[in-house]
Amino acid sequence: MCGIIGVVGAVDALPVLLDGLRRLEYRGYDSAGVALLHGDSLWRARSADGVESVADLIAKCDDGPHDCATGIGHTRWATHGAPGEHNAHPHVDCASGIALIHNGIIENHHELGDELRGRGHVFTSATDTEVLVHRIEEFRREGLTLTEAVRQTLNEVTGAFAIAVVDAAEPGVIVAARRVSPLVVGISEGATYLASDIPAIMDKATSFFSVDDDQLLTLRAEGVTATDLDGTPISLAPLVVDWDLETAQKSGYPDYMTKEIHEQPEAVRATLLDHLDKDGTITFDEMRLSDDALRAITKVTLVGCGSSYHTAMVAKYAIEAWARISVEVDIASEFRYRNPVVDETTLVIGVSQSGETIDTISALREAKSRGAIVVAVSNIVDSSMAREADAVIYTRAGLEICVASTKAVLAQIAALEVLALRLAQVRGVLSTERVVELFHQLTSTVDLVAEAVSREAAVTQIASQIANAHTFFFLGRHVGFPTALEGALKLKEISYVHAEGYPAGELKHGPLALIEPGVIVVALATDPALHEKILSNIAEVKARGATVVAVAADGDERIDAVADYVIRVPATPALMTPLVDIVALQQFAYQMAQSRGLNVDRPRNLAKTVTVE
Ligand code: G6P
Repeated sequence: MCGIIGVVGAVDALPVLLDGLRRLEYRGYDSAGVALLHGDSLWRARSADGVESVADLIAKCDDGPHDCATGIGHTRWATHGAPGEHNAHPHVDCASGIALIHNGIIENHHELGDELRGRGHVFTSATDTEVLVHRIEEFRREGLTLTEAVRQTLNEVTGAFAIAVVDAAEPGVIVAARRVSPLVVGISEGATYLASDIPAIMDKATSFFSVDDDQLLTLRAEGVTATDLDGTPISLAPLVVDWDLETAQKSGYPDYMTKEIHEQPEAVRATLLDHLDKDGTITFDEMRLSDDALRAITKVTLVGCGSSYHTAMVAKYAIEAWARISVEVDIASEFRYRNPVVDETTLVIGVSQSGETIDTISALREAKSRGAIVVAVSNIVDSSMAREADAVIYTRAGLEICVASTKAVLAQIAALEVLALRLAQVRGVLSTERVVELFHQLTSTVDLVAEAVSREAAVTQIASQIANAHTFFFLGRHVGFPTALEGALKLKEISYVHAEGYPAGELKHGPLALIEPGVIVVALATDPALHEKILSNIAEVKARGATVVAVAADGDERIDAVADYVIRVPATPALMTPLVDIVALQQFAYQMAQSRGLNVDRPRNLAKTVTVE
């Protein structure tokens, strides 16, 4: 994880760095720091308390680093070394002339560190990163340029990195490189930028470029030169950026989570757009897979992490129901280590908001190496997954900043359900009339999602009444099960309350022992076909003293008699109920976090894009 930013050129670097770091804090906020080239020396400020305290620190400094043309900044999500100032980046060499920031993990840091210590280097942090700057220092002492010193160093390391390095002895230059961890470059008149993600530099640069694995960059005011790690020149691929600054701001909402919850109808609408041709054919412009290839598939395997894993689970029900293909769903970090059974007739779909989650990327690579057809479902255009996969399906949720995913989740469900219809159509399982009918049902969920979003006050009122509870079970059947998992995850993530999602039928095989007065059971009761079963489960937990919050469809008259509280959502076709039920559960979790006075956008210990295993 971690966010990195750098700038070199005809701009005052410090405000650029601080501004960019604020927009990168979603990647980690355990600590932060900047380094600037100031005259012929290096100036560094770090804090264990994040970007604002770095800004405060600098503001209090009489001889602060003003009007510097070159600087790098970092916001950290700790992996090696506890959060604290001494572990905050940038790290410097023994002479404090070279500074380096890093996102990723250097796997052979123990060996490299022992060798460097043996040669007299003094380490001041417990990070895996610091070895890099000391090794670069050695190569610089041998007379190599900064670019060459970084190249030699990176040829010795294993692991993942996006790094940026500056050296007071070579002003006007930033050297950067990438392997696995994301990095983008931006260029404007007279200045060159790099960052982990576009939003950090979106309003500064006018053109953007993606950086691939094992590419080494030398940034100067007038632009960037790139080579591979052997020194062969390469050209960077231009990046399409279709956001504006407004999308990266709260636009009057109290926080990004509220904003993004409210953007969900648009996220679903935009994702569904242009997928139905006039003749009733479901199309995916970017998909690049022939009908024959889709017909030859014998199995679908979906992989994802966190909320994206839950949407993959929803997709399993839709694909099996509509396309009648066997579907497996796996947590991406488990997939590659279980010797998965996939071959050239398996369609492996990686689901990811960012398209950068390392576990999902690794799972897709594993699948590809075994000959599978690999598709990425990504919210970020040209993300690593999008570029590596055989085909890509873009969700159109727009930029999502809150660490806890909301609108990207709904967009993924919409996209995956359209894919299920495509598979059903091309394989001749459903008639075009039925496919068109189901597609129209999907598009009509846009209004239902909007209606669910508008019921925020009612959800808030219920959540406020049980805000002091400590244990929650979310129960659901069929697509209500992944919905329950997502509801529990949202609550855990942002309100730090213990919550478990369970298939309702599994309740009596263990969890029922935990039910007692004070426990809250949130029951998903929106699927008419399984309504009776859920009512029985509600009765079982009520009999043992639980308080029940039911999520039920408008018009469900029986639910009031059995549940203590009822969250009403618009009636929705069964396979699409997650699109409205999840909205209610997001609002529920939000209110629980508000009652506890927590920062919903920046939950403790978490980060939005997890680029470490
Ligand atoms: C992190 C985020 C989650 C997200 C998961 C997968 O854990 O906090 O909200 O669901 O990563 O991210 P992806 O970008 O692959 O969907």
